[in-house]
Amino acid sequence: MSLRDALRIPSFEITDEAVYRDRRRVLAALAAAPGLGLAGCSDAAPPPPPSKFVVSPEQARSGFRTSEAPTRYEDITTYNNFYEFGTGKGDPSRAAKTLRVKPWSVAVGGHCAKPGVMSLDDLIKGDTPEERVYRLRCVEGWSMVIPWLGVPLADVLKRFEPTSKAKYVAFTTLDDEKQMPGQGYRSLDWPYREGLRIDEAMHPLAFLVTGLYGKALPQQNGAPLRLVVPWKYGFKGIKSIVAITFVEKMPFTSWNDSQPEEYGFFSNVNPNVDHPRWSQKTERRIAGTQSKLFAERIPTRLFNGYADQVAGLYAGMNLRQWF
Ligand code: MTE
Repeated sequence: MSLRDALRIPSFEITDEAVYRDRRRVLAALAAAPGLGLAGCSDAAPPPPPSKFVVSPEQARSGFRTSEAPTRYEDITTYNNFYEFGTGKGDPSRAAKTLRVKPWSVAVGGHCAKPGVMSLDDLIKGDTPEERVYRLRCVEGWSMVIPWLGVPLADVLKRFEPTSKAKYVAFTTLDDEKQMPGQGYRSLDWPYREGLRIDEAMHPLAFLVTGLYGKALPQQNGAPLRLVVPWKYGFKGIKSIVAITFVEKMPFTSWNDSQPEEYGFFSNVNPNVDHPRWSQKTERRIAGTQSKLFAERIPTRLFNGYADQVAGLYAGMNLRQWF
């Protein structure tokens, strides 16, 4: 077998860019090809996170609010991505009533001193939900401004006492085709999974959400518990979470698995790195008027406008390579 056959990449695609954007497929092919081994792929794991970065409480707090007008409740709850209930934006608000959100438990485990399965109430016990108005920038090019209700992810994670082997945190959505009929279609490898590097998960902006506009979270928005990571594309905000696992290696994530050249693990909002099929330079807010679904195009900002708070997490990292 030639190297090209092993890589299963047509010659016109063999450029540096194709190789690094397609790292996962390349690695899998190399691993499967006898004799080729993994030598020369020492950059397959991302650089370690910076050891010194700390965000001050004031710096963090300045990201918890925005002067921009929030998107209407009706739009936030009827224009959704939740493939477990269909691939159309209107499907989840119509279909998600089959999701039973009570009782709900979350299994927390992996590299931590105090693993456990607990009810949602126990998981967030002692944390008073706070409101944070975050921008949500979807990878598809639209965006919203959403008043979420939730608790800092770090506060919850710390109670399980992650060990030094916990380099990443993996999140898993409910896996139940009866409640989530979209799981009957192979649109993704179910259950939906997402992940963060441990320092990203411990960042004060990372938020575990239980509500919006002061009310309990509707099913279509990821009830009863979902993640919101405002500096990353919306798909990192995994919905209806049933498991949180501390892991040593970069975990499986659903969109990266489905189209690795289009969706990287980090998925930080970045106007300078286009999606292979479209530009990420601009976005359109959901407008909130009957006559016009989208407002005018506005420039997309690096890290979705949260660079002051989060750029330090990626100091020295090539954001084109680690998109
Ligand atoms: N979580 C699960 N389990 N399934 C999904 O299909 N879609 C993601 C994310 N979380 C998704 C998910 C995508 S693509 C986006 S943009 C946001 O949820 C949308 O969240 P919203 O509907 O509350 O705006």
